[in-house]
Amino acid sequence: MIKVAKLSEIPQCGSKLVMVGDTPVALFNIKGKIHAWDNRCPHRGASLADGNITENVIQCKFHLWKFDVNKACALANPDIKVKSYSVEMRGDGIYLGSSL
Ligand code: FES
Repeated sequence: MIKVAKLSEIPQCGSKLVMVGDTPVALFNIKGKIHAWDNRCPHRGASLADGNITENVIQCKFHLWKFDVNKACALANPDIKVKSYSVEMRGDGIYLGSSL
């Protein structure tokens, strides 16, 4: 596991972009639960950390594609997935699984 951030650094319905090696990872705080996604939108690679974030949907600001927060896939086509990573919390610390 790799420590990448602290929960207290990310506001509710907010995000933080971290680099894990060469991989940009967007961390989203959704109701106190952290979701970790590859930051690159599966459409044309825009930053999902800069998207519109609600409790259910992350919307890319480039072409407004919407992604289901819990399933990490496009609302319009569930076959379009965003790569997501397992998250472990230890106190305030956010750790990502070794699958990166
Ligand atoms: S780059 Fe995200 S919707 Fe086009």
